Amino acid sequence: MPFSIGPISVARVAVLAPMAGITDHNFRFLCREQRCGMVYTELVNADCLLRGLQRSFRLVETQPGERPVGVQLYGWDPQPLAEAAAWVEEHIDCDLIDLNMGCPVPKVVSRGAGAALMRDPQRVERLVRAVVDAVELPVTAKTRSGWTENEINAVDVALAVEAGGGQCIAVHGRTRAQRHEGPVNWPLLAEIKRAVDIPVIGNGGILEASHAITMREQSGVDAVMVGRGAIGNPWIFKQIDDAWHGREVQLPTVKERLDMLERHLRAAVHTSIAWSRRARDRETALGRAVSGLRGHLLGYVRGAPEEVAFRHQLNSLHHPQTALDAARAAFHLPPASPKEPWPTAQEQAA
Ligand SMILES: Cc1cc2nc3c(=O)[nH]c(=O)nc-3n(C[C@H](O)[C@H](O)[C@H](O)COP(=O)(O)O)c2cc1C
Repeated sequence: MPFSIGPISVARVAVLAPMAGITDHNFRFLCREQRCGMVYTELVNADCLLRGLQRSFRLVETQPGERPVGVQLYGWDPQPLAEAAAWVEEHIDCDLIDLNMGCPVPKVVSRGAGAALMRDPQRVERLVRAVVDAVELPVTAKTRSGWTENEINAVDVALAVEAGGGQCIAVHGRTRAQRHEGPVNWPLLAEIKRAVDIPVIGNGGILEASHAITMREQSGVDAVMVGRGAIGNPWIFKQIDDAWHGREVQLPTVKERLDMLERHLRAAVHTSIAWSRRARDRETALGRAVSGLRGHLLGYVRGAPEEVAFRHQLNSLHHPQTALDAARAAFHLPPASPKEPWPTAQEQAA
């Protein structure tokens, strides 16, 4: 068993990073199928959840096949955060509550939340403790290396998370100032691992299986978290698992990539229709399903002979079959006749 978070056993060593707009329940399910150890929801504002915003409810919805799954909350004030965590525990099938302490977005940090929390480790401890006291589920946190190059304090923050009762910490080894680019501080991950007793998950810059192995070797982290390397590439988890166990790493075939792309599109269409309340929304459901998947579509055709042409076409693709055929064309394959209609008769009738 690679690692445990309190009572939760995580059977595989690579987990999916929370990514707003990317890691919805459909994608999380596909990743779990490919030996991803654990997944997280996209970050959700604790206040919005307590105010009952439908969009926030949808972000925390989970499905059975994706567990273990953590619900990631963000906020600044311990009380609403604790209340939101208690609400999640009561209403959502999930395995842990994760607290976001790494989001770099101005809208979030200007309110003292996300990465801004790292500047105040005492608040971090209070916040974690408030949530730990409010729920039975394990509480974890996701942080960065620090605020800027001159304020690298992830060790202090990890100690604060542990002191507050947090049971695992995931660290994106870049500062808030770096956002998502630039080198990942692996020596710092090693320092954190030495400083705390709770499991440490290393994150940042893992684009292929060998990167995960090197991160683990150089830092000693208990597990790795993959973000952008998984977009349109759920096989990366299987590849890391194979590399971890000394097995040969296999790349997906073109057929596997196109089949996965179609499954992903069909799942997105299903969700888009299920979430359309008005007839007007239903008419645009197919287009919304395709536009919501643009990042993944690019991932599925990465490295294809006509990848650049596909990229240029992307914003003009509004129907799933057109998107699928454009992806096939990127691999020099002719259009395919649909296996089933879009949407299926069952979805149409629902
Ligand atoms: C589009 C996008 C959305 C993200 N949303 C979240 C989020 O909701 N919560 C979070 O903790 N991190 C979020 N992140 C950060 C990732 O979880 C991860 O820490 C970061 O991408 C670094 O990992 P990588 O180099 O493997 O991509 C997001 C990153 C991206 C690119």
